[in-house]
Amino acid sequence: MALRLDKRINAPNIRDSAPHRWLIWSGGDSHVYRDNEGGQATRVWRPRRAPLRGCAPACRSTRRGAGPRPCRRPESPDWYLRDGYRALPPEWRPDPSFPLIPGTDVSGVVEAVADDVRGFNRGDEVYAMVRFPENLMKGSGAYAEYVSIPAPELALKPVGIDHVHAAGAPMSLLTAWQFLIELGHDEPNPFQSFRHEPVPLQGKTVLVNGASGGVGHLAVQLAKWKGARVIAVASSRNEALLRDLGADQFIDYTTTAAEEVVCDVDLVLDAVGGAKMGRFLHAVKRGGALFLVNPLGFIDHEEAETLGVTVSSTQVRSNGAQLAEAARLLANGTVRVIVDSTYPLSDVSRAHQRATSGRIQGKIVLTMD
Ligand SMILES: NC(=O)c1ccc[n+]([C@@H]2O[C@H](COP(=O)([O-])OP(=O)(O)OC[C@H]3O[C@@H](n4cnc5c(N)ncnc54)[C@H](OP(=O)(O)O)[C@@H]3O)[C@@H](O)[C@H]2O)c1
Repeated sequence: MALRLDKRINAPNIRDSAPHRWLIWSGGDSHVYRDNEGGQATRVWRPRRAPLRGCAPACRSTRRGAGPRPCRRPESPDWYLRDGYRALPPEWRPDPSFPLIPGTDVSGVVEAVADDVRGFNRGDEVYAMVRFPENLMKGSGAYAEYVSIPAPELALKPVGIDHVHAAGAPMSLLTAWQFLIELGHDEPNPFQSFRHEPVPLQGKTVLVNGASGGVGHLAVQLAKWKGARVIAVASSRNEALLRDLGADQFIDYTTTAAEEVVCDVDLVLDAVGGAKMGRFLHAVKRGGALFLVNPLGFIDHEEAETLGVTVSSTQVRSNGAQLAEAARLLANGTVRVIVDSTYPLSDVSRAHQRATSGRIQGKIVLTMD
């Protein structure tokens, strides 16, 4: 992968000269992926209407066996975009214009740098979440060999981890970071009228629901890093992994309702969502907080007020400075990205199918063929 670094404004775009890129040719129930060589439809995938399963990372390498392998990781927005955002209620539903190039997360090598960019050079190994939520509706273009990235969204790739693992990090890591550590911006919050504020974690008890997922497994590790006692909620096959990542207690949601066996926690980070999010209010102590990574459908605001629990959410935003800070944790092993599987970019459809299989652990990454 090659990256061109731009300032946010008048960002030059080199996608037109990219030799390989993958497009969603249409949205809706069926989706046709095409590359731009001859415009032939090369893969057709009719996704299930089953629950969207977070992310299918995908990454690719520019030359087999030659140098580092740049990667892409399909993220939740990829699914939503591919599906025409039908997971969202009508009033929230944007109108994506097809064809488009999806993908937000990348790890690769800088190929060109705009004149006014400082701090990055050709040949640097970098990682980023690209133009999110700015390009939420039109695709950030990461399913391509070349991608144009505003320099403020970029950070040097963590030393000691490969492009596959680095590509698995940006969106999930930034989400966990901005919920738990530092918001990092003053942009309006699309989910609520007030600014999301992370809470102190040192010595606190934090329950992470959906702990084995992209956001969840990184949230577990960040909370541990900040000195919290962490309760991880996931299915049993993920117990060993989550304990290895630092979870102090594990609850298998397939056999036990976490809110019935846990009480007085300081913070619940719910990285699952759905109609029953409010059940966690009873697991939180008065003065504590319930953070909703996917807040759509939460209706129990009055009960939260009665119980004295702060309910808050935010939308992740691209942030190179935070990725630079997190890179130190990735480099020294404090935080690990778990990679479920990798697929060549030409198998993007299969990567998405894998992600919807419901049995993924961590991230799926697309590699460059
Ligand atoms: N606010 C934002 O800006 C933002 C950013 C990124 C993502 N999100 C949202 O956050 C959510 C999570 O994203 P993700 O990428 O982490 O998804 P993911 O990788 O698919 O992870 C979801 C995890 O939830 C677990 N799970 C499923 N049902 C569960 C249940 N009933 N109880 C407990 N755990 C359950 C699954 O584990 P098992 O395999 O063990 O079942 C899975 O590992 C998505 O809704 C996504 O849209 C929001």
